[in-house]
Amino acid sequence: MTTGTDTDLPLFTAYPGLKNLPYRALATLPTPVARLAHLGAMLELDSLYIKRDDQSGTVYGGNKVRKLEFLLGRALAEGAKAVLTFGAAGSNHALATAIYAADAGLRCHAMLVPQHNAHSVRRNLLRGHVAGAHLHACAGRPGVVVHVAQVFKDEFLHHGKLPSVFPPGGSSPVGTIGFVNAAFELKQQIEAGELPEPDLIYVASGTMGTCVGLTLGLRAAGLNTKVQAIAVTKAPYTSAEKAPKLFAATNALLREADPDFPQLDFPEDRFTLRQGFMGEDYALYTEAGCEAVRRIRESDEVKLEGTYTGKTLGALIADGPSLRGQNILFWNTYNSPDFSGTIAGVDYHDLPEGFHRYFEEPVQALDAP
Ligand SMILES: Cc1ncc(COP(=O)(O)O)c(C=O)c1O
Repeated sequence: MTTGTDTDLPLFTAYPGLKNLPYRALATLPTPVARLAHLGAMLELDSLYIKRDDQSGTVYGGNKVRKLEFLLGRALAEGAKAVLTFGAAGSNHALATAIYAADAGLRCHAMLVPQHNAHSVRRNLLRGHVAGAHLHACAGRPGVVVHVAQVFKDEFLHHGKLPSVFPPGGSSPVGTIGFVNAAFELKQQIEAGELPEPDLIYVASGTMGTCVGLTLGLRAAGLNTKVQAIAVTKAPYTSAEKAPKLFAATNALLREADPDFPQLDFPEDRFTLRQGFMGEDYALYTEAGCEAVRRIRESDEVKLEGTYTGKTLGALIADGPSLRGQNILFWNTYNSPDFSGTIAGVDYHDLPEGFHRYFEEPVQALDAP
């Protein structure tokens, strides 16, 4: 599963002092860029590209792998034996953490809160279980507190150490560094002629590590690209106030590791948080999001989903006419490697009882398998 070495990250090449940051190579990098010729033709966009972070891992891809390289690197450097993280029941972040923590020999506890039902929730729960994660069905925030207290106690009593805690979505300053590197990676691909410098990047915002890390990295790499962050969660996970704070904290962490890394102001003019595409709620699919999922599957054989990437592409499609003549990059943050074989035959009754309802109740109306 491990590919690459700590020396070949573009961010480390640009700022060698950053090699002091704890890091565990997990991802298959660089992720490819490709032209979305068919969707571009339909939208009359001559220069529409996709960044294939869905291919960031052979076992499990998506945007979380880049963050986990730094989060797990730090946890291992601190001698952790277990990690604890948070998410909704179908969280891609919790699943990625489960898979890559197990690969690193760490126990994983995932504190999972209720969400709207979907086939992807079922699949992710089963895959997390197969990865050996301890999946905790928490009834909202009070439930999380109870489960966290219990896990802290058990881990300390039985293993003499508290788990390393990763925030929802892995969007601490440490995790966000993964997307600072992603911007430097993009710059190399631009310099190699694989795509023109984008005027705009469309990317989903769940907990903001991806869009803020990119914004910081683009600035540091000297690119003029602007970020359109499509909010698919509510505050406090996504908010206009959070972006500059996470930007500054990540910038400070990088400068601590390498004082040559520049001190940067949050570029208000290069970051736009777009509300209005989430629909009624997080993880509740929208007509426009599902239509976007269908369109790109049929036009360019790219697999998206309804919670993050469909809503983001829906925003791009809605903006279409105003984007003509510009270089546009859609950042695909969803996993594409198929793991249906890994979960075939797994009985949901083996999961904690609190999750059984996802398999017994219907999925939401707009969901397709
Ligand atoms: C598929 C997918 N896209 C986008 C995101 C959002 O990324 P971030 O939490 O860094 O904003 C997530 C996770 O939250 C995700 O699972």
